[in-house]
Order: sequence, then structure tokens, then C-alpha cells
Amino acid sequence: MPTPTGLSDEIIDALRKARSVVVLTGAGVSAESGVPTFRGQEGLWRNYNPQELATPEAFNKDPTLVWEWYDWRRGLIAPLEPNPAHLAIAELEKRSPSFLLITQNIDGLHKKGGSKQMLELHGNIWNVRCVAEGNVTENHDVPLQNIPPMCSCGAMLRPHIVWFGESLDPHILHQSLQAIEACDFLIVAGTSAVVQPSASFPIMARERGATVLEVNMEPTPISSVVNSSLFGKAGELLPQLVASLG
Ligand code: OAD
Repeated sequence: MPTPTGLSDEIIDALRKARSVVVLTGAGVSAESGVPTFRGQEGLWRNYNPQELATPEAFNKDPTLVWEWYDWRRGLIAPLEPNPAHLAIAELEKRSPSFLLITQNIDGLHKKGGSKQMLELHGNIWNVRCVAEGNVTENHDVPLQNIPPMCSCGAMLRPHIVWFGESLDPHILHQSLQAIEACDFLIVAGTSAVVQPSASFPIMARERGATVLEVNMEPTPISSVVNSSLFGKAGELLPQLVASLG
């Protein structure tokens, strides 16, 4: 397998020697599995922009509409399989003395691809949460039997997903920050790097002296911050990167 074009020996060597590796992923890593990205045209549903639907305000106003959108997305995701990008990240985990995957993706494909040490920053589309009691349960019904789905306590269930305007789980955020501060090598793959706080992780890691490598189809706001950017498909570049470690 060829070494990715534009990747210096220095970067490969830094990854080879890294004691602690963190990978931060976004929707671009699942794109080649067929999951629509958020900011691409294919992310649209009934002409709604995801950013209009993934909010507590949208859910309070029209929970049926928001659940119909999630039901559509669950139906899209259910048959999909991990792609070579997911598999390369799982392989990198096996090779790294200390490893953490921080994903903004909610599709569950990293787990299906074999990743173990993982934090799901924005939740998981297969988990639902009672709006009254806050308890989280798995729900894999496709399609959902009732929209909106109800908890046995009689209250409504909502997707266990962090929406725009909501805070991340403080425990997950704390663990992510600790890993970012401690890592020697950070790979940022398939994220537009515009949603906080994850958009700040590459900056923090660089400030702490880590080597930061970006993998994306196109330049992003963090391209000027990272040590190196590889432009192309994550499903091609990440397997090449892992293979180049020897
Ligand atoms: P975006 O849709 O904003 O960005 C996807 C990124 O992936 C873009 O920069 C694309 O260039 C890149 N990309 C697309 N296909 C790719 C491929 N095959 N290989 C490599 N890169 C590719 O998605 P995120 O950055 O994940 O939050 O968005 C961050 C968060 O904003 C999401 O988790 C979601 C959202 O709206 C919530 O839902 C809370």
C-alpha cells in the first residue's frame, strides 16, 4: 500500500513512536459507508437543514417532526457497514500503547468496526432517553413502532444525542480533555472542525506539543494549525497511514 502523498517521514516516525495516540473523527469518516454528512447537500431531509432539527427548541415545538427525522436517519444507518477508515482506526488502536478515539459521530459504526477505547461526544442514535427521568436505554427499532416513542413511565423519549445549544456530558468532556492534553499524536479525520468544543482539541494538542495530522477532503479552519494535512478520502488515506507504520 502506498504511503499517503504529502506525508513526511517525520510525521510517520512521530506516530510510530507515540506513546499516546488520540483520533478525533467527524461525519466524513462515515461518509464512505453511506452516512450523509451534516454540512453536505445529502444531509438534507424534506428540505430541512440538520441544524434546524437537532435542537431542543425544535423538539419542544414539534417532537413528532424531530423523531420522524431521526427515524429516517436510523433507517439509513441500520444496514450500513464500517468502511476502511473505521477499520484502520481500530487497527491503530491495537498498535498503540495508549489510545483513545473521540468521535462526534452518533452512528455506532466505529464500534461495529472494532474500536474499543472510545468516547461518543455527541451521543448515539441507538440510545433513547426519558425526558422526565433521564434514564438511557437502547432502542434498535427500525422503523420506530410509535412516533414519538414513549417511556414506560408515560413520559416522552428523546434521542440520547447532544443537540445544538446543549452541553456535552461533563464526564465525557473531562475524559476527552485529559486525553487531548496527554497525547503525543492526534489525528483529526473527517470533521469540518467548526463545532465546539472538539474544534479546539487540535489547537490544545498542538499547544501541548503533540503532533497533529488532519485527514479531510478539503482544507478546514484547523488546516493552518496542524502539523500536516492529508487531503483525500479517509477510507483510502487512513489505511495507507496505518500500513506505512510497518
Ligand atoms: P460535517 O458534515 O460538518 O463535516 C464533515 C467533514 O468531512 C467535512 O469537512 C468534509 O470535507 C469531510 N469529508 C467528507 N467526506 C469525507 C471523506 N470521505 N473522507 C474524509 N473527509 C471527508 O461533520 P462534523 O464535522 O462531524 O453535531 O460535524 C460536527 C458536528 O456538527 C456533528 O457531530 C453534529 C453536527 O451538526 C451534533 O449533531 C451535535
